[in-house]
Amino acid sequence: MATELKRELSRVIPVEGLSEEDVYSLMTAPPDLKMGDLTLPCFRLAKTLRKSPQVIAADLCAAVKDRLPEGVASVEAVNGYLNFRFDKASEAARVIKKVLSDGASYGSDTIGKGKTVCIDYSSINIAKPFHIGHLLTTVIGGSLYKILEKLGYKCVGINHLGDWGTQFGKLIVAYKKWCSEEELRKEGMKVLTKIYVRFHEEAEKDPTLDDEARAWFKKIEDGDEEATRLFSLFKEITLREVGKTYDRLKIKFDSYAGESFYNDKMEPVLQELEKKGLLVESEGAKVVDLSEYDMPPCLLVKADGATLYATRDLAAAFYRKATYDFDKCLYVVAYQQNLHFKQVFKVLELLGKDWAKDMVHVPFGMVSLEDGAMSTRKGKVVLLEDVLNNAVQKSLDIITAKNPDLEDKERVAETVGVGAVIFFALSNNRIKDMVFSYDKVLNFDGETGPYVQYTTTRCKSLMKKIGRYDEKKADYASLSDEASCAVIADLNKFGEVLKTAAERYEPSYLSRYLIDLCKDFNRFYLNNRILNEPEGVKEARANVVYAVKTVLEEGLRLLGIDAPDKM
Ligand code: ARG
Repeated sequence: MATELKRELSRVIPVEGLSEEDVYSLMTAPPDLKMGDLTLPCFRLAKTLRKSPQVIAADLCAAVKDRLPEGVASVEAVNGYLNFRFDKASEAARVIKKVLSDGASYGSDTIGKGKTVCIDYSSINIAKPFHIGHLLTTVIGGSLYKILEKLGYKCVGINHLGDWGTQFGKLIVAYKKWCSEEELRKEGMKVLTKIYVRFHEEAEKDPTLDDEARAWFKKIEDGDEEATRLFSLFKEITLREVGKTYDRLKIKFDSYAGESFYNDKMEPVLQELEKKGLLVESEGAKVVDLSEYDMPPCLLVKADGATLYATRDLAAAFYRKATYDFDKCLYVVAYQQNLHFKQVFKVLELLGKDWAKDMVHVPFGMVSLEDGAMSTRKGKVVLLEDVLNNAVQKSLDIITAKNPDLEDKERVAETVGVGAVIFFALSNNRIKDMVFSYDKVLNFDGETGPYVQYTTTRCKSLMKKIGRYDEKKADYASLSDEASCAVIADLNKFGEVLKTAAERYEPSYLSRYLIDLCKDFNRFYLNNRILNEPEGVKEARANVVYAVKTVLEEGLRLLGIDAPDKM
C-alpha cells in the first residue's frame, strides 16, 4: 500500500467526527483493481452521519477534488466507495524504487516488534514414522515462523515431541526380544516400526507381553537406568532420521521440549486446579467438568494415577508463558484435535489465566494420496521421505527431458521436487482436506511450486541477458500499459499480503499471491520487449524484472522454498 499517499489523503479527507487516524485505517486496497488504487468505503459511516453511503462518497468527493496530493491523479465516488487513482508513473517509480532499495527486506514490518510468538509445530511422535500426515503442520508452522519473523515478531519454534506413553514400554519389550542396538543404529526407524507392529501381532496371542510392557513403562517413569537409556536411544534414532527431512524442508526449531519434559511439571498445575476447586473425582479419575460449556470433561489423571496428553499440554502452556512470556501461543495441529485444544484453553481460562485468550489452535485438514493410500495401521504408511524422493525423481525426469544439458541436474531436481511438495501443502486454504498428485504438483505450467520457481529463474536469466545498466535512467511513464500496471500493483501489495497471511495464520495467501505475480509478470513479459528498447524504456522494464525477481525469491524463502538459477 502506498502508505505515504494514504497518509496524505487521510489528512485532506474531511469526514465529520473522524480523526485522521480513523480515516487512515478505513482506507484500503479496492476489491477490484478497476476501481482504482485506494478506496474509502463509506458504508460504515452511514449510521453515524445519517446519510447513505452513496451521498457520503459524493460529498467527500466534491470536498476533496481540488486538494488531491501530488501523485494522486483522480478521485471518483462510485456506489458508496470513494476511489482514488494514483498517477501511474509516480506510482510505478515509488513502488519499484522501494523494492530495489529494500531488496530482500522489502515487505518487512515492525508491527511485531517486542512481541513473542510461540509456534508449536511438526510435533512428531518418537519411534513412529514421519508420514505424510505431518507434512502440513511442519511446513505451515515453518512458514508462519518466517513470515511472523519478517513482520518483527520474535518467534519460538517448538517441536512438542510425542515422547511419552505406554507405547514406549511396548517398544522396549519388542526391542529386547527382536532387535539389537547395532541393527537399530544401522537400519534406523524402519526397524522400530517393524518391531512395534510385530509386538501387536504377538501380544494378540500372548497377553503377558502387555504386562511386560506396562512394567517397562513403569521403569521409565521411575527413572530406571536401562529403561531410560533405551528410551533415549529411540529418541536419538528418531530425531537423527527426522532431522534429515527437516533439513530438506528448511525447518528449524528453537526447542524440542516434548511431552516427557513435563513429567515433573504437572503437579503444580494439578495443585492449582485442586485449590481453585476445579478438579473433580469421576470414577476414580480426576477431571475438570466442562458440561457448562457443552464439552465433555477434560480428563487429567486416570484412576491408576497416570497423567494424560491434556495434562502435559496444560503444564506446557504454563511453562511457555513463564519461559517466553509470549503474546501469542500457536498450535499448528490437525483439526481432529479441535476439541482437545478447546478443552485445554477453557481450563486455562477457568484457572483465571488472562493469557488463555492468547492461545490459538491453527487447525488444518488431511492430505491423502491420489491412489487412496494413507493408512497408518499395520505399518502401511506413506512416508514423507518417500514422497519427497519420488517428487525429486520425477522432477529429474522432467528436467532431463526439457533441458538435457543442464548442469547439476540432481541438485536442481532436489530443489524443484521438494519445493513442489512444500508449495502444494501451502497452496490451499489450510482447513481443506487435499489430495496429493505427483502430476499436479509437478506441472510446470500449473499453479505450482515449479511454476513459481520457473518464473523466478526466467527473471534471473533475463537479468543476466540484460547485463549492466543504469537503473536510474528508468522512464517510469513507459510502464503505463495494463500489464505493467498489474505487476506494479502486485509488487505494491506484498507487505499487505504478508500481514494478512500472518493475521489469519494462512501461508496460502502468500503462495496464491506468488502465483498471481507470476501470471502477471509472464503477461508483462509477453507484451513488452526489454532488450533493444529505447533508453529509459529498457531500464524501466529491466527494473520491473529485477523487482519481481526480488519479491519472488523472498516470497519463496518465506514458504521454505529455494529458487534455482536455472531449471
Ligand atoms: N504429537 C501430537 C500428534 O502427533 C501433536 C502434538 C501437538 N502439540 C501439542 N502441544 N499438543 O498428534
